[in-house]
Amino acid sequence: MLLVKFGGSVLTDKDRLRTPRPAAIRRLAAEAAAVRGPLLVVHGAGSFGHILAARHRLNEGGTAPARRAAAARVQADVRELDRLVVEALNRAGLSAVPIPPAAVLVLDDGNVSTVDVTGFLEFSSMGFTPVTFGDVVRDRRRGISICSGDLMMLELARAFRPDRAVFAADVDGLFTADPKRRKSARLLETVGPKDFRDALSGRRVVGTRIVRGP
Ligand code: IPE
Repeated sequence: MLLVKFGGSVLTDKDRLRTPRPAAIRRLAAEAAAVRGPLLVVHGAGSFGHILAARHRLNEGGTAPARRAAAARVQADVRELDRLVVEALNRAGLSAVPIPPAAVLVLDDGNVSTVDVTGFLEFSSMGFTPVTFGDVVRDRRRGISICSGDLMMLELARAFRPDRAVFAADVDGLFTADPKRRKSARLLETVGPKDFRDALSGRRVVGTRIVRGP
């Protein structure tokens, strides 16, 4: 099994609210359709999620009317992007089925409290391609919170133990610094636990490439 995340930075113009990149969506869908064997697709939100989520601080939770309205708006927006992705996957020859995190996962202060992967398992075993995405979800402590596509990658990797987890981003791999800002940024061919420890201790590692399955 292959687990793949289409980053929101690739699918959308991250600086312009709700602006998809149709050619990039088509290209990634065609590449996904060329994969042999079962596939799980996760995608980010890009400008369909991050801009309003940050503006309304959705990650802080709360269910006051203004925040609730913003949460509903972002939920609707990420589903609009998901529709574009699912449509592209279907046109490319897959049978894609959207499974929104809000329906299957609950957080507790940002950490996963419960998740039900039965739908992924059962649709996948029938030959469908489950598709999930970064979403606004319930959070036991905060009321609502953001579940990123990366968190869904982690949960699905834990549950399905794929051969590989692939992250498609707008940079060509993991770098020692942001390659868009620093010419001195160096591509890391392989990354192990030590690199992440370094990253956490201040040396930055940015971008994402391929993470081998467990
Ligand atoms: C973000 O998901 C979800 C929302 C803001 C609702 P991701 O964090 O996985 O999205 P990208 O890939 O960075 O755009």
